[in-house]
Amino acid sequence: MEVLIPAERIQTRVAELASEIARDYAGTPVTVVGILTGCLVFTADLIRHINLPLRVAFVTASSYRGMVTLPGKLEIRDELLPDITGRHILLLDDILDTGKTLTRVVAHLIDKGAASVKVGVLLRKMGRQEVPFEPDYVGFTIPDKFVVGYGLDFNDEYRHLPYVGVLPSAG
Ligand code: XMP
Repeated sequence: MEVLIPAERIQTRVAELASEIARDYAGTPVTVVGILTGCLVFTADLIRHINLPLRVAFVTASSYRGMVTLPGKLEIRDELLPDITGRHILLLDDILDTGKTLTRVVAHLIDKGAASVKVGVLLRKMGRQEVPFEPDYVGFTIPDKFVVGYGLDFNDEYRHLPYVGVLPSAG
């Protein structure tokens, strides 16, 4: 496995992002919403550095890319989401690729009554975006390679790796 971002660099950057977030929200209570399952490790590490009144919730977003009847359709499930009416949301995802997932989930949260939605991603892939979308917080910009580790998977494996790596066969 080629290590793209070593564990120590991730930890340093996550702590930096948390300071930026705490500074920007300036004491305003925030609800962190993670998009499962890829957000898991990033969310767990980030929230432990954020010095704000904070709640944590999760949604799932599954895409059905490749299905003939539903091309590119995304299913958002929010059974794990409490009432977010009037709450300031910090939405977290592992990676911004085409931008479709985050665009849809942001719209969903606004629809649910969120007062504001900011977005943080650990990774942003270069040259892949298909819809205009600007995240508020980005950990690292990476080349267009399939990456795993630190929450990111291939066939649901490798999420537990403390670093971000490129699979030899998938890169
Ligand atoms: P979009 O294209 O909607 O999708 O921005 C973001 C989601 O696509 C998945 N994704 C990846 N997962 N390694 C992964 O393990 C990758 O390199 C990769 N690129 C995209 C991921 O689920 C993300 O939430």
